[in-house]
Parts: sequence; structure tokens; C-alpha cells
Amino acid sequence: MTELAKLVAISKSFGGVRALVEADFDVKAGEVHALLGENGAGKSTLMRVLSGEMIPNDGEIHLGGERVELRDPRDARARGIAVIHQELALAPDLSVAENIFLGELPGVIGWKDLNRRARQLIERLGFDIDPKRIVGSLAVAHQQIVEIAKALSRDVRIIVFDEPTAVLSTQDAERLHEIIKGLRANGVGVVYISHRLEEVFRISDRVTVMKDGQVVGTVATRDVTIDKVIRMMVGRSLAAMFPDKGERKIGAVRLEASKLNAGRMVRDVSFSLRAGEVVGLGGLVGSGRTEVARAIFGADPLDSGTILLDGKPLHARSPRDAVKAGIGLVPEDRKQHGVVLDKPIRINVTMARLAEVVNGLGFLKSAKESGLVGDLARSLKLKAESIDAPVSSLSGGNQQKVVLAKWFHAGGDVIILDEPTRGVDVGAKSEIYGLVNKLAEANKAVLVISSEHQELFGLCDRVLVMGEGELRGELRPESYSEENLLSMAMTGRLTETHEGMPS
Ligand SMILES: Nc1ncnc2c1ncn2[C@@H]1O[C@H](COP(=O)(O)OP(=O)(O)OP(=O)(O)O)[C@@H](O)[C@H]1O
Ligand SMILES: [Mg+2]
Repeated sequence: MTELAKLVAISKSFGGVRALVEADFDVKAGEVHALLGENGAGKSTLMRVLSGEMIPNDGEIHLGGERVELRDPRDARARGIAVIHQELALAPDLSVAENIFLGELPGVIGWKDLNRRARQLIERLGFDIDPKRIVGSLAVAHQQIVEIAKALSRDVRIIVFDEPTAVLSTQDAERLHEIIKGLRANGVGVVYISHRLEEVFRISDRVTVMKDGQVVGTVATRDVTIDKVIRMMVGRSLAAMFPDKGERKIGAVRLEASKLNAGRMVRDVSFSLRAGEVVGLGGLVGSGRTEVARAIFGADPLDSGTILLDGKPLHARSPRDAVKAGIGLVPEDRKQHGVVLDKPIRINVTMARLAEVVNGLGFLKSAKESGLVGDLARSLKLKAESIDAPVSSLSGGNQQKVVLAKWFHAGGDVIILDEPTRGVDVGAKSEIYGLVNKLAEANKAVLVISSEHQELFGLCDRVLVMGEGELRGELRPESYSEENLLSMAMTGRLTETHEGMPS
């Protein structure tokens, strides 16, 4: 196979942090090359070097056998290198078509033509998105599709997907995998970064594992096992992904939602959460799960319905009210709602519950604060120079850990986690599951929204299933399966068994 790009002994430091240490990496035509490693291992930074966004301190870049200098992203794009970023990089106020063709506007082609071309590109990807829609109003999954369409609007020879499926439902992820297979068949070199190891094994030809800025090794996917790769990533095997749920002591109802209606995506939703219980909220992306969470949290107004918290009516008109009443929400979109990027980790974690760290006179009890934040950072294995570093200096997965730390710190009696392990590495995932267990043990009621069904099954006492804004039903552990969940989401019933069918 032809070698499209080769990175040789690339090093990059940020102040005292050595993000890349003599890293080697190459991409061949017609392959899917997976890039794996813990949060902060250097994956995104290495790909920023390939895309001309970051100039390395040392090392060489070869494209098509020739040594080159990539001065900026435009330089790399002109050579056929495209990156679908982990943190989507679209202009939220522009339309889908404007985003796709940004840079070649407006010129000779009229709007009608641009919209038509945008629609074609998106249709080729198997999606139906109105090119005139404002990007900021699209679901994250669809924003991602727009990014891909944008990349494919030009000739690409190398395309890097930095954790693309973190924001996608199982179904959309399948469609993306089909798109990737198509690109591979056309001789494009695909780099695929993901923390979902099963899909990496399904889709990739080769795997490169990074740790602490160094490349541990590159192997053919068929020559290794998931367990071996985890050992390369974290330096040990993981005993178990999901810690034992044990016998959860489930108590009185903490939160009771009755006939909630909010906008188009929450219709007559009723359910309750008990103390010490972990309940899943499953369904397809766009089924209204996040909207239910936002309505309870006061982030979106309720049109009708009642919420009781420990038997008392809750009227949260804003997240502030909800937090005061004892509800915490870890939002799915960390960039918009979760963190203040330019503020230190310490401030971000303590934001939701300043009262505890502020003494009567209004001074921050710095020592106490540092202690609490430090403990959380350690239990989540946060990779940062110090808790005073700005969140913007962290890797994507570590930013997600800051959002989690914030809500674990803020406490509350009812905790809603929306996609809590999105973009988080295998080791940290299992730490997060452990923390969720601890929340339940502390008698809190926990609601977990996740598109990773195995995560719901491994973590939850029962799983509520949504479809088109309605609560379609509930799965108990004895009926946990992908098929049952999808069937419930679509039809409100479990999958048909062959029992009693005429033979
Ligand atoms: N702009 C920056 N300023 C300071 N440090 C940075 C910057 N960008 C990255 N780093 C640091 O470089 C290291 C590697 O980060 P990188 O984003 O490449 O990790 P990653 O492997 O992509 O992790 P993840 O799986 O969490 O996305 C981390 O320690 C990170 O904090
Ligand atoms: Mg990254």
C-alpha cells in the first residue's frame, strides 16, 4: 500500500508539558489506522501536527515520500489532509451550506446552487439535513455530519476522525462506519481516534497506541486482542469494566415526574427515581432524552406537568433554582454548558457549589477547596499540570472529567448524567462507574443518559426507553439487550420471541 504521510520523531511541548516525545506515525492509502491512548496521551496533538494546526518543536513530516513543512491548516488542506475535530469547529451562526463552503463564498455560484450542492453532499453520506438550517440549531450528531460533508467537499487523501462516534448514536455510528469503508475503498487514508475499543477492532486495519506523548507501538489489528491493546494503553489489564453493582439499597422516591411536557421533544413523560437507585435513560439520539433532563433541571421551560422532589413540588425556573433544590446535571455538551474554558480547573469544579468553600466572610477557603478538588482530580485520574491550569489546556477527555468532577463536587440528591463517559478513556470510564456506584450508595438518585447501551446495562438497575419524545417503556435487567432496547424505542414492546408462533 502506498504511504501517504509519515511523521518522524515528532516532539511538541507546551511550557513544561511534553505532549509529544519523538512520536512516529504513518498513514497508507486505503487503510483505516486507529490511534489509541488514554486521555492526554497526545493523539489530538499529533493529528494537529499532521493538519498544520500545530508546528512541532522537532521532527519531520513526509507527504507522498517528500519532506514538507506544514505552515498552517490551509497548507495541509491544499495537500488533501482533512480533520474532523473532537471539539466541533463549525460556525454556529451560519447555515449548513455556508459552513460547508466557507472560504469559497460567494463568487460566481449563487445560493441556490450552494444549497443544492450541500444537500447532495449530505445525502451522499446518507443523511437528510436542510442546508439552510443554522448550524447552532442542529443536534451535535448532525453538526458532525456537516463537518464531514465539509471535509469531503474538497478532494481528500487523508482524513482524520478525532472521536467521531462520541457524539453519535449506535445507528449513526454504523452509518459513519459505512462512510469510512467507502472512503477506504476509494484509496483514502483514514485515521480513526476513538475510546470505543469494540468499534476500533471492527473497523481498523492497523492500531497505533500512544502513552504519555510516546508511541508504544503499531500493530495489525488482526494480530492483537482488546485486552492486549488495553495493556499497551494503560500498562495493566483492567480487571472489570463495570464494578459490581452489589445489592443496592433502594429507598423512598426522591424525584417524581408526572406528565411532563416541554416543547416538541418531551411529551407526557412520567417516571420516578428512588434513593440509592441508578436509572438509565436510553433511546436513539434525538428521542428527547436530553430534553427531559433539561426540563427537570430548569434549563428549558415546562409547558405542563409536575415534579416532586422528596415529596415537595419543585419549581425550577432556571438551573440555579434546580441546583439550590438539590439537583445536579452533567450536561452532554461540555463546551457550551459544562465548563468555562479559560478558567482554571479549580474554579470550574467549585463553581456549582461555592457556598461550601466560601466561609462566612466571603473568602475562599483555599486549602479546603484545593483538598476537595485535588481528591476528585486524583480519583478521576485527571491529567493536568496543576488544578490552576486553564481547562482549555486539557485534552478533550480530561475536559470531560472536569465537568464530572464539578457535579460530583456540587452534590445534590438527584444527579443526572448526560453521556458521562463520552470521550473518556477505558481506565477513567471504569473510575466513573465506580463514582456512580458511590453516589447510589450515598442514597442519591441517579439518572444516566447514554448512547452506549452496554454502559446502561452494566450500570443501571432499570432502563427507561424513549422514542420520539415519549417514554416508550422500561427494561429490567432480565431483558437487557441491544435488540430489546431498540425494539422498545421504536415500538414500545420487547422483541418478538418465537414462543407461541405457529410452526
Ligand atoms: N494548547 C495546549 N496548551 C497546553 N497543554 C496542552 C495544549 N494542548 C494539549 N496540551 C496537553 O498535551 C497533552 C496531550 O493532549 P492531547 O489533546 O493530544 O491528548 P489526547 O490523546 O487527544 O487525549 P483525549 O483522549 O482526552 O482527547 C495533554 O497533557 C494536554 O493537557
Ligand atoms: Mg483528543
